[in-house]
Amino acid sequence: MQDRTPRPEELEPVERVGVDELRARQLERLRWSLRHAYDNVPHYRRAFEAADVHPDDLRELADLARFPFTGKAELRENYPFGMFAVPRERIARLHASSGTTGRPTVVGYTKQDLATWARLMARSIRAAGGRPGDRVHVAYGYGLFTGGLGAHYGAEELGCTVIPVSGGMTERQALLIRDFAPEVIMVTPSYMLAIVDELERQGIDPRTTSLQVGIFGAEPWTEDMRREMEQRLDMHAVDIYGLSEVMGPGVAVECVETKDGLHLWEDHFYPEIIDPVTGAVLPDGEPGELVLTSLTKEAMPVVRYRTRDLTRLLPGTARSMRRIEKITGRTDDMMIVRGVNVFPTQIEELILRTPALSPHFQCVLDRQGRLDTLTVKVERRVGVAADEAERAGAALVQQVKNTIGVSVAVQVIEPDGVERSMGKMRRIVDQRRGH
Ligand code: DLL
Repeated sequence: MQDRTPRPEELEPVERVGVDELRARQLERLRWSLRHAYDNVPHYRRAFEAADVHPDDLRELADLARFPFTGKAELRENYPFGMFAVPRERIARLHASSGTTGRPTVVGYTKQDLATWARLMARSIRAAGGRPGDRVHVAYGYGLFTGGLGAHYGAEELGCTVIPVSGGMTERQALLIRDFAPEVIMVTPSYMLAIVDELERQGIDPRTTSLQVGIFGAEPWTEDMRREMEQRLDMHAVDIYGLSEVMGPGVAVECVETKDGLHLWEDHFYPEIIDPVTGAVLPDGEPGELVLTSLTKEAMPVVRYRTRDLTRLLPGTARSMRRIEKITGRTDDMMIVRGVNVFPTQIEELILRTPALSPHFQCVLDRQGRLDTLTVKVERRVGVAADEAERAGAALVQQVKNTIGVSVAVQVIEPDGVERSMGKMRRIVDQRRGH
């Protein structure tokens, strides 16, 4: 793999700012952001008053804990434009998150917000190993989803040649990788797997393509998946995080030289980790739910937004800003099987350690009598005999029992038996009544 570490002089000075200076800047920006939300968004004024706090009460960063949380419910109640803090005419773009049921959540950006987003995405792509002049194949979906356009403007800002492919038409994705020779690909990890399979189907050895860096996000993925991708594609596989409510992709990213968790761009977002049950703020290093407050957003400031993503805050390494650990999953994705908490990422790790099984899998929840059951449907790897894959499936049952402590069924199926994602993969299929 090529060394893709950016040179120190290529970084923005703020990427290496000292912690004291960073905290001072955060405090100043946080004061502005709370005041902006309070003055211009009726919801925040009401919520602050109900909690008996005022923006002037913020004397130090820790005082943020006194302010109320914001969740998806508040965004839905104020659908579509009630959370905007600027007149509608100043909104330069709208995005919305898909939301599996009912109303989508709508987010808005001023021109200034779009410029900030492009800059943070450019910073993220560079940290991940992208360089000016690189060809960047964007296979995140374009549209209301923030993935495609977020990646697009960031890559342009960095000075790359953008190839705006969007998701889908997997055969064509493979063809364009071969013919346009991109150095960088930006795509969900689950869709990358489908593209790799397609390259192989077309007789192309994925290790021989021009790709040097894959920037993967929008869904959880594991260290074992990184190894699989890096080995099969002979390129760096780097994690990028974000969410539409807070901006879109580019809130946090891994640095290619360390790949040790995602540096969160703290000059624009203030992170907290809370106990998801009590809401108490936890010290750095403790696992819990990530809560984010925007520091510079004009159109739609968010105050203590509960992401539902589970992670920990870690000190900076390749950059001075803090890191979040690779996300284990969302609180909503936690399956409780016979009293044991299980995340799809835990299953992914074990599957990827089983060479006869492919990384294409789904977790099917069902109910037998009063007991919930979990069946892992996983494809055998192409080229592996069916009986060998069956034995591997039986061994997986045992490994899940030994490491996660839960009894599951494993159903080994033929290659292509699991529905392919073109964006975010649906890992959990819930067939219990009422779901
Ligand atoms: O998924 C934004 C994005 C696009 C991020 C492209 C990265 C790359 P939403 O559709 O609003 O926005 O979904 C946000 O996706 O709260 C997480 O649960 C999950 N997610 C995003 N990135 C990661 C990641 C985009 N790197 C939700 N690891 C978030 C794990 C992720 N989960």
